[in-house]
Amino acid sequence: MSDHFTADDLMFKPGLMKGERILITGGGTGLGKVMAEACLMLGATVYIIGRRGGVLDATAKELMDAHGGKVVGKACDIRVPEAIHDMLDEVWADGGALTGLVNNAAGNFISRTQDLSPRGFDAIANIVFRGSFFMTLDCGKRWIAEGKSASVISILTTWVWNGSPFTVPSAMSKAGLNAMTQSLAVEWADKGIRFNAIAPGPFPTEGMSARLNPDQESGGGGGYRDMSSNPMGRVGDMRELANLAVYLLHPLSTYVNGQTIAIDGGAFQATGGNFSGLRSWSDDQWKAASEAIRATNDKDRAARTV
Ligand code: HXC
Ligand code: NAP
Repeated sequence: MSDHFTADDLMFKPGLMKGERILITGGGTGLGKVMAEACLMLGATVYIIGRRGGVLDATAKELMDAHGGKVVGKACDIRVPEAIHDMLDEVWADGGALTGLVNNAAGNFISRTQDLSPRGFDAIANIVFRGSFFMTLDCGKRWIAEGKSASVISILTTWVWNGSPFTVPSAMSKAGLNAMTQSLAVEWADKGIRFNAIAPGPFPTEGMSARLNPDQESGGGGGYRDMSSNPMGRVGDMRELANLAVYLLHPLSTYVNGQTIAIDGGAFQATGGNFSGLRSWSDDQWKAASEAIRATNDKDRAARTV
């Protein structure tokens, strides 16, 4: 497969998403970027959000050069409700209400829980738990005031069902978003706003690998390198994820509401799909992982423009 999708990678007819206006948090990289690409190719206008303006601009240009259409990058820190509000004012002014929101942005790193500080917990919870709720709330108020329908999908993990040792702030925060999905699916259904979630297994991305499998050179333990325990023996294919996201965003899936769908090759059924394998790590392995993760955090922070 080339770096970009072709029409053969998508299971939908061209133009399926024409008229749809989709905002994807964390859409400049990784899974957010491939969902943005699929929506764009099918005719949607796509807004991508992140803190590194340069990354967003490069992704927007790359996708439009490959496929045409309209992708707009907007630098915004979803931990800041006022910044979300201002950003959404601009999005609404640029063509009206969004028709879909993808809560995809996240922060995560593996760590023994006893090594976390309160700020370490907040670093993850403020993005995943609070930031995704703030995005949903600000969009929701607008949709309700305008009587507009919409589809919201949140990108979770299968740990929402069984927890995940060594990524406890993420497991707690994603479980909270799972509760948000189930709750608002009911509360706002009569307003035409529906909520579903996707729980991916391992889909290799730079952001995930650097923080969840930082010792790839030596074989790793908790990341995607050893897939022998996955029933399908492989990681996810980005096309599989992108097609599922399009399905849930499109109005023809409207009766699907309040669901969290795993896309993991059956790993959750077989192994629980979490980081319990890291129980055998030594102090030295944890020290090396922490140093590698912090180096990635420092590099990414230096590129932030908000
Ligand atoms: C313990 C750590 C740590 C580590 C950071 N901290 N790394 N604690 N172990 N490895 C602590 C710091 O010491 C500090 O606390 C606090 O966390 C904040 O650190 P900062 O570097 O200042 O944080 P910040 O700049 O806010 O960055 C947030 C971040 C960063 C979450 C730490 O990684 C980030 O922005 N990530 C975004 C991208 C990302 O994470 N993508 C992965 C998603 S993948 P003190 O007390 O020392 O000040 C994913 C996949 C799941 O979710 C499913 C897989 C199957
Ligand atoms: P990624 O590339 O690191 O994506 C995370 C994105 O979130 C980045 O684009 C980042 O951009 C953005 N972000 C982080 N904090 C933000 C903030 N405060 N405000 C705005 N944007 C912010 O990792 P990924 O693997 O694609 O992960 C995407 C989603 O999939 C996450 O929810 C993750 O938990 C989930 N997931 C991934 C996997 C996997 O195997 N990859 C498996 C299960 C679930 P900036 O740093 O520029 O802000």
